Amino acid sequence: MAILLKQARQILTMNDGLGLIQDGSVLIENDIIKKVGRLNEQGFRGRVIDCTGCVVTPGLIDAHTHLVFAGTREDEFAMRLEGIKYETIAKKGGGILRTVAMTRSASEDELYKLAAERIKMIIRHGTTTIEIKSGYGLSLSEELKILRVINKLKDNTPLDVIPTYLVHTIPRFMKRRDYVDMQCEEILPEVARLKLAEFCDIFCDKTAFTKSESEKILKKAKELGFALKIHTDELANVGGAKLAAKLGCVSAEHLIYTTKSGINAMKKAGVIPVLLPGTSLYLQTERKPLIKDFMESGLPIAIASDFNPGTCMIYSMPKIISLASLVYRMPVELALMAATINAARAIRKEDRVGKIKHNYQADFVIWNVDDYRKIPYQFGEDLIKVVIKKGKIIYETNS
Ligand code: NIG
Ligand code: FE
Repeated sequence: MAILLKQARQILTMNDGLGLIQDGSVLIENDIIKKVGRLNEQGFRGRVIDCTGCVVTPGLIDAHTHLVFAGTREDEFAMRLEGIKYETIAKKGGGILRTVAMTRSASEDELYKLAAERIKMIIRHGTTTIEIKSGYGLSLSEELKILRVINKLKDNTPLDVIPTYLVHTIPRFMKRRDYVDMQCEEILPEVARLKLAEFCDIFCDKTAFTKSESEKILKKAKELGFALKIHTDELANVGGAKLAAKLGCVSAEHLIYTTKSGINAMKKAGVIPVLLPGTSLYLQTERKPLIKDFMESGLPIAIASDFNPGTCMIYSMPKIISLASLVYRMPVELALMAATINAARAIRKEDRVGKIKHNYQADFVIWNVDDYRKIPYQFGEDLIKVVIKKGKIIYETNS
């Protein structure tokens, strides 16, 4: 089936920067982009989507989510507003461990239903590719349950789903050393054997795993064939950016407290920074990532939602793009690249998604605005008109 996206006011191709084309069209054949630019549309047979007065971008990519969980933690949200810190709540058995308890109580089917409903909503907000981490199970059987749900979402929803096994925190009643051994000897080999995840990620931070524990686990994961990610420097500077560089992680995520030397190390090793402005908003962290230094390094900065019940209940990538500008002062152009092509790099899919280019996958968002700067600017509005995934319309507004 052929589709013509006709006469868009602006097309952001993401080729060499924004790659802006004014008043152009896009020709889609089946699931692939065939032509982009000022096209001769005469004799075209297929569906025409009128894009007059609209902006067209690649489908949005959310490179960091914790989408599979049960229960909510609005009480902790309220406590934090009273001044109680995320770390304090976690130390008292709240935080991740509470979601672990609620997620363990849910059946695999219940978890799948919850997540599939969330994906339906996410599609309306323009996400066409999503990374999903496990991490609210902690034991072998519970992590496998979550990973099976993620893989089922991959097979049964229109989105490209990238599964990540996340080593999230130390379970109650378990010694740290024993849990690290259990990861290396039991859980990681089984997740690898069952091929349930492409990436392995670890929470290397103040309340979670130390640098040396993280190194041990990630090294084992690498041996087993996982590509690596790391959650780090979210709550304190623990030197996780340097560890990411040393181990050759594809990406390092959060990076609120990362210093210039950490950024330099990431630059040398080509580790993609994934910044999460929604989490900064929820945690009300005064310190912000060193955006200017990241920009000067020339590393492609990605942004993502970090959607999870503790530190960010936002799954809408347009909102995250706005927050990148408003909370992190990211230039609009960079925020848009960060949610498309740079996010594709963070999940190693940059040769297939994140750009509007010949032979790339036909994933698009058509926006009801005539200038791309209105995307973050009109924060409070839903601006999306059409979402296309692999050449199929997966969401369309009635108007
Ligand atoms: O990315 N930092 C670790 N994990 C999540 C929070 C998880 C939770 O609080 O449930 C994050 O912020
Ligand atoms: Fe996270």
